[in-house]
Amino acid sequence: MARVVFARVLQKLSQLPDGKESALYLFSHVLGGDSVSVAKEAVRRNHSLTPQQLTHLESLVHRRGVLREPLQFIVGHWDFYGVKNFIVQAPTLCPRPETEELADLAMRAAEKKGVCGHLLDVGSGSGVLAASILARLKGWNGIALDISQKALELTARNAAVAGVERNLSFELGDMRSWAPPSGTPPFDVIVSNPPYIPEEEMISLAPEVIEWEDPRALLGGSPGGMGLILSLLGRAPPWLVPGGHLLLEVSHGHPSTLYPLLCPSLGTPPAETIHLLPASGLGLGRTISCTPLCEEDVEMAKAACAQGGGCTLAQLPDVWAWEGGYLDSFGQPRFIHLVRRG
Ligand SMILES: C[S@@+](CC[C@H](N)C(=O)[O-])C[C@H]1O[C@@H](n2cnc3c(N)ncnc32)[C@H](O)[C@@H]1O
Repeated sequence: MARVVFARVLQKLSQLPDGKESALYLFSHVLGGDSVSVAKEAVRRNHSLTPQQLTHLESLVHRRGVLREPLQFIVGHWDFYGVKNFIVQAPTLCPRPETEELADLAMRAAEKKGVCGHLLDVGSGSGVLAASILARLKGWNGIALDISQKALELTARNAAVAGVERNLSFELGDMRSWAPPSGTPPFDVIVSNPPYIPEEEMISLAPEVIEWEDPRALLGGSPGGMGLILSLLGRAPPWLVPGGHLLLEVSHGHPSTLYPLLCPSLGTPPAETIHLLPASGLGLGRTISCTPLCEEDVEMAKAACAQGGGCTLAQLPDVWAWEGGYLDSFGQPRFIHLVRRG
């Protein structure tokens, strides 16, 4: 019976890019299992399903296939960077596989700083970044900051899932005006997967994103989705120790736009290519072209950067050293690693 039912589910979800993965997870979920191996085993042994399980499965397949609810929201939990069963709840952003690569970059930076340290996660969302990193760094503690009360509550629950609730504190605030509470020691590492989607790209996003996830987790603001990133670059230097690290997930066009702003001595040759990525780390060296900002964008960049009294666009190269830009595992330039100059 399970074979026939599973084949029907597969067929109903066949239009989805992750149709097979969804089918396996949903099937396992109704059978009471956490892992896709439960579905595989049931199909292999051709187990029977109860009428209740069949009805439940049908409703989940409808949510996934017709309503396009993200798989993670339906299942309600997801593994991230070695931690099992983080709670996932709409509309807080679902954890993405590429963000695990950001967690890994942040881990490497943190390990360089030592066994004890202080971490800030800006825009913590479900909290998976801060919680999974602190779960590995037993001597570290940190702060998770988010503008959304719902997201921050989820961060707190997920800190408990990862067993780091004593090491993480939670701040509700806007990164453009927030400042660390007085007495907070400066951070050794700041990690952030900020909203970075340009407004004009929203329309091309999958229904799972547009209809189910909080727009505040997506839209990065002008120019080109970099508004919040620039604001963070302007404000974050005093939050970090000299030599402290800032690791950001960004949109694939952003590294080549930000590079000339942060490293102007290398020029901004519009049609030329520069080496953006060091031949180490996650992405191997490759060349990509620089995208200089037009005048209007520069004005917006200046405003975003200086918002809340942070350093200006012109001062960025004096406070940040470009440590590297990295490709994600799909080959897209996705991560930026900066170090606060001493
Ligand atoms: C792309 S999500 C990242 C969530 C989580 N860190 C992750 O990687 O899955 C961005 C998060 O930033 C938060 N956010 C948006 N604007 C913010 C702001 N101005 N200040 C602080 N947090 C903000 C959103 O609520 C959202 O949770």
